[in-house]
Amino acid sequence: MIADRKNDHVRLAAEQQRDTGVHSEFDDVSFVHHALAGIDRSAVTLNTSFGGIDWPVPLCVNAMTGGSVETGIINRDLAIAARETGVPIATGSMSAYFADESVADTFSVMRRENPDGFIMANVNATASVEQARRAIDLLRADALQIHLNAIQETVMPEGDRSFSDWGPGIARIVAGVGVPVIVKEVGFGLSRETIRRLGELGVRVADVAGRGGTNFARIENGRREHHDYAFLDGWGQSAAACLLDAQSSNLAVLASGGVRDPLDVVRGLALGASAGGVSGLFLKAVLDGGVPALISLISRWLDQIEALMTALGAATPADLGRCDVLIHGRLRAFCELRGIDIGRLANRSVSVPATSTHLGG
Ligand code: FNR
Repeated sequence: MIADRKNDHVRLAAEQQRDTGVHSEFDDVSFVHHALAGIDRSAVTLNTSFGGIDWPVPLCVNAMTGGSVETGIINRDLAIAARETGVPIATGSMSAYFADESVADTFSVMRRENPDGFIMANVNATASVEQARRAIDLLRADALQIHLNAIQETVMPEGDRSFSDWGPGIARIVAGVGVPVIVKEVGFGLSRETIRRLGELGVRVADVAGRGGTNFARIENGRREHHDYAFLDGWGQSAAACLLDAQSSNLAVLASGGVRDPLDVVRGLALGASAGGVSGLFLKAVLDGGVPALISLISRWLDQIEALMTALGAATPADLGRCDVLIHGRLRAFCELRGIDIGRLANRSVSVPATSTHLGG
């Protein structure tokens, strides 16, 4: 049954990628253009460091799949593309492996194909410390992701209905594993209250995984007999809203959920993220065009992220946190309601001394 669910998720998520033209709150974030701000491309580095983690690039292939024959092939292809482009990569949830060890290879194929890359294992917050360690060992993982997905579980016909132990569960895992832990949502976003609580639980990195891209309320609703949860379609906060909400947080944050192009990555970095992550869009690329298509897409993104940083005068991803950004539309209304000072963001390039200070990092 888990294998069928994993195949359903891939099929339904890829179908969602056809939806275009929907307003993205990333479009509510624009840069003030400073015509003399540019630097030399040779001065720009994509390296990023946060919460005990060093990545060569501020972009990852975020958690998706594994647990069935078909998804094992997808993991192989994603891992090859990650190896060829140098981007960090995560597996999907490894619950299927805990339930049935015979699917181990559908996850470990990632390490086999990408022996030196940065790989993240992925578990849910109900995993035991022992399971989290097994997941890390299987992949020789460099970090562990724990996903929070209460809305997905709610709509999933066979989903969990008990969430109160998630916080203590996260604290146990953080204390019991030897790699950095990243806690992420799956497309509904993390509020600043949630991020603060994660800090209290010992977590140092939070991946907001906001609304606006892959929508697991819709995916799980599509798997329900009567499709009776359609009213949850717009649930959650966008990645841009989450990053603004997290401005005062002292955890490192990652920008994911609905990232559409290199400009969205750069917007996320300017809003304080240490890196961005993409799932559904990269999945569609590899399903449609195979490994070569995904390699060429990721390579182009990295090239264009570096190009934008050059024009914006940001020598490092963290330096983007000094660019002046304007917040418009629905995102501006969110900031007003949450008491977030967007005037400071619009005028910060002159007010910060030359040494780089990374917002939220
Ligand atoms: C996911 N995502 C996910 N996340 C996670 O932590 N564990 C998981 O097992 C999965 N499974 C999964 C399957 C598929 C097919 C997709 C497309 C996504 C969620 C993913 O990591 C990400 O948070 C969301 O998809 C939002 O990002 P995008 O897709 O809008 O870039």
